[in-house]
Amino acid sequence: MPTPKKLHIKTYGCQMNVYDSERMAEAMGSEGYVTTDDPADADLIVLNTCHIREKAAEKVYSDLGRLRPLRDAKPDLKIGVAGCVAQAEGAEIMARQPLVDLVVGPQTYHRLPEMMRGVDRGEKVIDTDMPAEDKFDHLPRLRAPVARPSAFLTVQEGCDKFCAFCVVPYTRGAEVSRPAARLIDEARALVDRGVREITLLGQNVNAYHGDGPDGRTWSLADLIWALDGIEGLARIRFTTSHPNDMTDDLIAAHGDCAKLMPYLHLPVQSGSDRILKAMNRKHTAASYLTLIERLRAARPDLALSGDFIVGFPGETDEDFEATLNLVRQVRYAAAYSFRYSARPGTPAAERPDVPQDVAVARLHRLQALLTEQQVQAQEAMVGRETDVLFEKRGRLPGQLVGKSDYLQGVHAQAPEDMIGKVARVRVTEAKANSLAAVLVGA
Ligand code: SAH
Ligand code: SF4
Ligand code: F3S
Repeated sequence: MPTPKKLHIKTYGCQMNVYDSERMAEAMGSEGYVTTDDPADADLIVLNTCHIREKAAEKVYSDLGRLRPLRDAKPDLKIGVAGCVAQAEGAEIMARQPLVDLVVGPQTYHRLPEMMRGVDRGEKVIDTDMPAEDKFDHLPRLRAPVARPSAFLTVQEGCDKFCAFCVVPYTRGAEVSRPAARLIDEARALVDRGVREITLLGQNVNAYHGDGPDGRTWSLADLIWALDGIEGLARIRFTTSHPNDMTDDLIAAHGDCAKLMPYLHLPVQSGSDRILKAMNRKHTAASYLTLIERLRAARPDLALSGDFIVGFPGETDEDFEATLNLVRQVRYAAAYSFRYSARPGTPAAERPDVPQDVAVARLHRLQALLTEQQVQAQEAMVGRETDVLFEKRGRLPGQLVGKSDYLQGVHAQAPEDMIGKVARVRVTEAKANSLAAVLVGA
């Protein structure tokens, strides 16, 4: 037998790229490729890229530059760029970095095997179509054993919201939901392979409106309730949601569906109505706060996380204070905050920037407040019991690590056969990013 060719994929950006990288590896697996963690060992290196902020996009070029010695050592090495930078920049990537043989967008990577045949003939290949066909219909069914008990499942892609700062509607295209029956099948296949927790993914996951097996259009809540019926599946999560798509049935599910975990990532971006309007978010700070109240009424222990942008064009000190105020009212368990980055082709890129030093100072103040809230959320867990899904061995002997219901990292002394199981623990100590715990009844 010939030695199999080796594929190395480096993934940037969001969880959807993580999911896509796994699908690409499977698609190339059907072509005889096996994956490797070592780029020096690979025959094909694919960078699955992110375009969301300038820093993320530029990192791709510095990483590509670093592949030069590998190509010099192995002239047959093929290099591909996939994902959102591929979609946004297309042929420009090859112009800027001639090492690149292949550019493939997020909606066409099911054609990767065919494209690679062109690359192997020495051609430069670019495919950044947004075809009407569903790539997932053309990808191989899940075959490989799943390495971790927690898996992602993309249910919805793309976005029609067009927030003024965001590239996603351009890189991922219009909102498309996958048919529910396919998703239920895929979820069952994951559970058969040992998965206990599924995180449903979409750039706008709660806008999900897929064809249901009963002929109706299903909401995300309908899909969650169908997955709730899969024996062996212990936990369901979903990300990322938009406040305007938080429907009544989904809010209610947080109270009624035991498998749906009490953690919700619900970005608000800013606490100032003036800035929210300029961002084209189509919600206000007050409507967001009312929504949070309703969610907490349905599920009082719900942990919330959010995304924030500071220094959006036109943001004044007063606008920024409104963001701090909103954060104080919500009390986040975790959050991601970013300095605004002007992205080519988006409406906000045309507007004058807030001075850099002002934006940096605001980011530091916001991050200090968010960190304080995260520490409080962690410390509030000490002495409490929670369930943990153990995922793998920890750093210390005899230790396992996993996630609490609230998505906190937890470590505890536990037998190795508890990997992939949900266990009850009592938290003994809190650190900024992890909790120490002991098994209850051990
Ligand atoms: N679909 C999700 C998130 C998409 S991107 C949503 O609607 O919330 C993830 C986060 O990156 C965003 O929530 C936003 O906070 C941040 N982000 C997006 N574009 C950005 C930009 N141009 N500059 C800085 N941060 C940005
Ligand atoms: Fe981007 Fe807004 Fe769509 Fe989220 S909702 S992906 S921030 S355009
Ligand atoms: Fe980045 Fe594309 Fe995800 S721009 S955040 S990889 S959708």
